[in-house]
Amino acid sequence: MTVSTTLWNISLDTTSETSLQKQLHKHIRGAVLSGALTAGTKLPASRKLATELGVARVTVTEAYDQLVAEGYLEAVRGAGTFVAAFMPDTLVALSADPEITSTSRTKPSTATLHSGMPALDHFPADKWARVAGRSARRLNIKLMYHSDPMGYLPLRQAIVDYLGQSRNVSCKPEQLMIVSGLQQGLYLVASSVLGLEDAVIMEDPGYDGMLSAARASGRQVRFTGVDEDGAIPPDKTEDAAAGLLVTSPSRQYPLGLTMPYGRRLELLAWAERSNSLILEDDYDSEFRYAGRPLNSLQGIDGGGRVVYGGTFSKSLFPALRLGYLALPEHLVEPVCRLRVAIDSFPSIANQQVLQAFMEDGEFTRHLRRLRKIHAQRKAIFEASAHRHLAHWLNFQQSDAGLHLLAWCRTALLASNLKDEKLAGMAQACGIGAIPVSRCYQQTKPQQGLMIGFANLGETEIDTALQRLAQKIHRETGFSS
Ligand SMILES: Cc1ncc(COP(=O)(O)O)c(C=O)c1O
Repeated sequence: MTVSTTLWNISLDTTSETSLQKQLHKHIRGAVLSGALTAGTKLPASRKLATELGVARVTVTEAYDQLVAEGYLEAVRGAGTFVAAFMPDTLVALSADPEITSTSRTKPSTATLHSGMPALDHFPADKWARVAGRSARRLNIKLMYHSDPMGYLPLRQAIVDYLGQSRNVSCKPEQLMIVSGLQQGLYLVASSVLGLEDAVIMEDPGYDGMLSAARASGRQVRFTGVDEDGAIPPDKTEDAAAGLLVTSPSRQYPLGLTMPYGRRLELLAWAERSNSLILEDDYDSEFRYAGRPLNSLQGIDGGGRVVYGGTFSKSLFPALRLGYLALPEHLVEPVCRLRVAIDSFPSIANQQVLQAFMEDGEFTRHLRRLRKIHAQRKAIFEASAHRHLAHWLNFQQSDAGLHLLAWCRTALLASNLKDEKLAGMAQACGIGAIPVSRCYQQTKPQQGLMIGFANLGETEIDTALQRLAQKIHRETGFSS
C-alpha cells in the first residue's frame, strides 16, 4: 500500500522554533493514532519524501527512526518503512494531538509496560464492586472521622492473620501499619528511625523504585553486592555501612534468588553486631509455583531487628496503593509520628473494601486462582520463548514471581543491541519488560531483560514473542 497523498499535504513551518524533524514526527504520529495511516501502510522512501517536502533527507530519516523506536513504525530491511501492525494499547490510548494533553501522556516512549504485573485481566471486579457497595453503605460517622495513623484496625487484624498463616510473620495488629505502598513504607522507616549518620543500604543490583524512596529520605545511600545466596552482609564488603539494609530474601529483585536459611542467619547476626535494622521487601512472595516458600526473615528474627514489608500491588493491582509494614514494637512510635506529620493515614474507603474482601475469603480465592493462571501463562511463555528467542536470550529457570529473567546471549551482545533498546522493542510488542542493566549501581551492569509473563493473555503470548523475535531479526540482521 502506498501512502495517501492527503497525508503528505503538510506544510512544515521553517520559521517555527519546533524543528522540521519534530514537526514531521508529530504529523506522522498523529496520522497513525487517528487511523489516517493504517497498520501495514508503507511509507514513502525517505529520499522521495524529503524531495517532496523540500527538506534534507536526514530530517525524514531521523523522524522515521524515532517513530520506529517508539513502536509506531517498523523498518523492514530491504523492503521499507511500514506502520506497525501491532500497536500497544499504551500507545493507542495516547491522544493524536500531544499539544492538548497533559505532559505525562504526551511521551509514548516513557509509557512503560511494567514487568511485575499480575494477571490484571482476571481481577474479580464484580466481587470487588459488591464489597465496595456494602462497605460504602456501612460508612458511619465514626468511620468518616477515623484517625488512627496505623490504619483501619479490622484490616490490620485481617493482614496479621494472613501473614501469620502464610509467611510465619510474628506481629500484633498494634505493630502493623497500613502504608500507601512499600516505597512509602521504606521512606517512612528510613526518615523516622535512622540518624543522619546512618545509611540506607540497598542491594546492588536492586529495584530502582525502592532506591528512589531511600534517596528521598535524605539519608546516605550505600550498596551491598548480591552473590548466589542473595544480599552479602554489609560488613563482609569493603564498605561496612550500618543503618537499614533493604533486602528481598524471598526472591531477590531482579536476580530471582531465594536466600537460603544460612544467609538469613548471617544477615540477622550482622544487624545485631552493628545495631542495624533490616527491611524485608517481600514484594511478590504470594506467587510460588512449585515447592513451599521459605518462612520470612522476620519470623526467624522474632521481630526485633526486622521490619517486614508487603504490598497489594502484586496480589491485587498497583493503583490500589496499599501495602503494610510489620514494625518492631520500639519503632511503632517514631514511624507513627512521621506518618501523622505527612499524610495522617490512608484513605478509609479502600481499606474498608479490602478488609471486607479479605473477610469474605475473596482475597485467598483470588490468590489461588492467580497462581493457577500465572503457572499456565509461565509454561506457555517459556515454551514460546524457547521457540522464538532462544538464539538471543537465555531464560533463567524460575518457579516464582511475575517475571522471567532473560540474559542476553553472545549473539546479541556481539550485535551491540543494548538491553535498554531491547526493552523498548519488547514494549512496542505489548510485552512488559525492564532492562536488567538499569538495576545495577556500583556493580558492573549485566545485559538482560526482566520480562513479565503473568499479564499477557494466553493467546497473545506467542504472537507477542514472535513479533519481538522479528524485530530483533530486523535490528541485528540475523535470525534464530
Ligand atoms: C522489588 C519491589 N519492591 C517494592 C515494590 C514497591 O511496591 P509498592 O507498589 O507497594 O510501592 C515493587 C513494585 O514493583 C517491587 O518490584
